[in-house]
Amino acid sequence: MSLNLCPIILFFFFFILTISRVRAIGINWGNTASHPLPPPKVVELLKSNNITKVKLFDADPLVLPALSGSNIGVTVGIPNSMLRSFNSSKKAAESWVHDNVTRYFSNGGSGVRIEYVAVGDEPFLQRYGEQFHPFVIGAATNIQAALIKANLEGKVRVVVPCSFDAFLSESNLPSKGHFRSDLNKTMIQLLTFLSKHGSPFFVTISPFVTIHQNKNISLAFSLFKETAHPHNDSHRTYKNSFDLSYDTLVNALSTVGFPKIDIVVAQIGWPTDGATNATPSIAETFVKGLINHLHSKLGTPLRPRDPPIETYIFSLLDEDQRSITTGNFERHWGVFTFDGQAKYQVDFGQGSKNLVNAQNVEYLPSKWCVVNNNRDLSNASARASEACYVADCTALSPGGSCFNISWPGNISYAFNSYYQQHDQRTDSCDFGGLGLITTVDPSVGNCRFSVELHTSQSDSLHRACYFQWTTLLTTILVCLLRFTL
Ligand SMILES: *[C@@H]1O[C@H](CO)[C@@H](O)[C@H](O)[C@H]1NC(C)=O
Ligand SMILES: *[C@@H]1O[C@H](CO)[C@@H](O)[C@H](O)[C@H]1NC(C)=O
Ligand SMILES: *[C@@H]1O[C@H](CO)[C@@H](O)[C@H](O)[C@H]1NC(C)=O
Ligand SMILES: *[C@@H]1O[C@H](CO)[C@@H](O)[C@H](O)[C@H]1NC(C)=O
Ligand SMILES: *[C@@H]1O[C@H](CO)[C@@H](O)[C@H](O)[C@H]1NC(C)=O
Ligand SMILES: *[C@@H]1O[C@H](CO)[C@@H](O)[C@H](O)[C@H]1NC(C)=O
Ligand SMILES: *[C@@H]1O[C@H](CO)[C@@H](O)[C@H](O)[C@H]1NC(C)=O
Ligand SMILES: *[C@@H]1O[C@H](CO)[C@@H](O)[C@H](O)[C@H]1NC(C)=O
Ligand SMILES: *[C@@H]1O[C@H](CO)[C@@H](O)[C@H](O)[C@H]1NC(C)=O
Repeated sequence: MSLNLCPIILFFFFFILTISRVRAIGINWGNTASHPLPPPKVVELLKSNNITKVKLFDADPLVLPALSGSNIGVTVGIPNSMLRSFNSSKKAAESWVHDNVTRYFSNGGSGVRIEYVAVGDEPFLQRYGEQFHPFVIGAATNIQAALIKANLEGKVRVVVPCSFDAFLSESNLPSKGHFRSDLNKTMIQLLTFLSKHGSPFFVTISPFVTIHQNKNISLAFSLFKETAHPHNDSHRTYKNSFDLSYDTLVNALSTVGFPKIDIVVAQIGWPTDGATNATPSIAETFVKGLINHLHSKLGTPLRPRDPPIETYIFSLLDEDQRSITTGNFERHWGVFTFDGQAKYQVDFGQGSKNLVNAQNVEYLPSKWCVVNNNRDLSNASARASEACYVADCTALSPGGSCFNISWPGNISYAFNSYYQQHDQRTDSCDFGGLGLITTVDPSVGNCRFSVELHTSQSDSLHRACYFQWTTLLTTILVCLLRFTL
């Protein structure tokens, strides 16, 4: 090879590197829903919107087969509840890797392109206390050893997703960023483990929660608006909340001796309901601003021209059974509604085309449950509160899309949510005689009274078992026939 070709080859090498950096925008796919959209439809949704990476929270046996052959890069998750057993048992870690990774893995081709195993789901969240801290490193080490044994070292990397509250800066200045003091020791062990195995640091950044909790950050600053008042940190100028949080983390990493470790933003998004500032149009501004910022490759003041190696938007779909201990917005992070309809427009790689919605979605019949106005409604509010204990009433909260529907419209909303979650069973619209089933859509303005999907979680599980049973029976029958013939 002639020497003067080298610069050109190098140029193309870096060109390709930069391109792949820009493209690394994925999405989180959670399944904490009463009626999850069937996995094959979700995979179609990902493919038709050119989404090339997806992060899961478990290793759902209905989800992974659906991703086979899609060439989508996948992160599978280990729930926090399994960490204890994987810390104490190499065998348990090996079975998990065998059953949930090795069985599906392929590097392209017909299997699942698994890139990461996420050990725990934000095990360091402050509200969990220290219950998972003693198991995380041991579990990660045993999973890593199991991957090596399965010949997957370097192909599948072990990561530990860290919550936004694992690092902080009391003064809001990134230069004063540090890890939460109860995490000092664990963080050093974790970072030592990650760098030894070439794994990046997975972290959640949440400009929404920052503004929700800290009134001193302006909405414009959170939304990447040019007009936002910048925050200065000695000679560094911060123009948006994302850079501020990111550099707070970079500084925390530097403080414990890991200034260069690669960062993956594992969860970042903006909810669309259930709180003030949680609307589709604000969410659109945020996600568009974020994606433009990542595409600009500007990086942050502490890591100029070095943006996160990958970024996973949170989240793909709304999930009506997510915990709401941190706020009613928690069930509304989706770029798409629970049934796969785009709430707003963003560019995931499909260019200027609109997002494609989920196709051929199967719903329950067009029926709703509302309050019967001809009855004595003196106990209706109590009934609605009971319904809301299991149903999803988050849209009724202040700032929510149904906050303004007046009484007894809000009672109907609660009744309907309960009725849909119970697959429109007649007895789930009773409410002591106060419920009434109707075929007239009670939705008003932005307040949507939903009709649930045809497939419930229990449904799909039953179907999977039924399928296995019928396959088994068929096999036995065929064998018997062969034997007798
Ligand atoms: C997006 O994916 C579709 C197929 O699903 C493909 O035809 C199209 O070229 C892709 N667009 C881009 C910009 O990669
Ligand atoms: C984690 O596993 C190690 C090795 O088996 C064990 O010594 C340790 O006690 C475990 N930690 C906890 C907190 O159980
Ligand atoms: C993964 O593997 C373990 C161990 O074999 C098994 O108990 C578990 O059910 C599997 N599936 C998931 C979703 O973790
Ligand atoms: C953790 O680190 C911080 C900052 O470096 C320090 O102030 C704090 O005392 C440490 N906490 C523990 C428990 O070591
Ligand atoms: C609020 O932020 C501004 C910069 O935008 C800063 O000057 C001010 O000190 C902050 N106030 C508090 C109470 O943190
Ligand atoms: C922040 O820094 C910029 C540029 O260095 C400067 O123009 C601006 O006045 C500073 N703002 C504050 C509030 O100190
Ligand atoms: C309302 O509830 C109370 C207590 O459960 C009950 O005694 C009363 O009869 C109810 N009123 C109506 C109108 O159903
Ligand atoms: C609710 O109604 C008030 C007053 O009518 C209006 O100012 C506000 O924008 C409405 N909020 C929503 C979320 O529709
Ligand atoms: C419905 O609205 C009434 C009156 O504003 C209120 O007292 C009640 O708690 C609301 N119920 C629900 C389920 O939001």
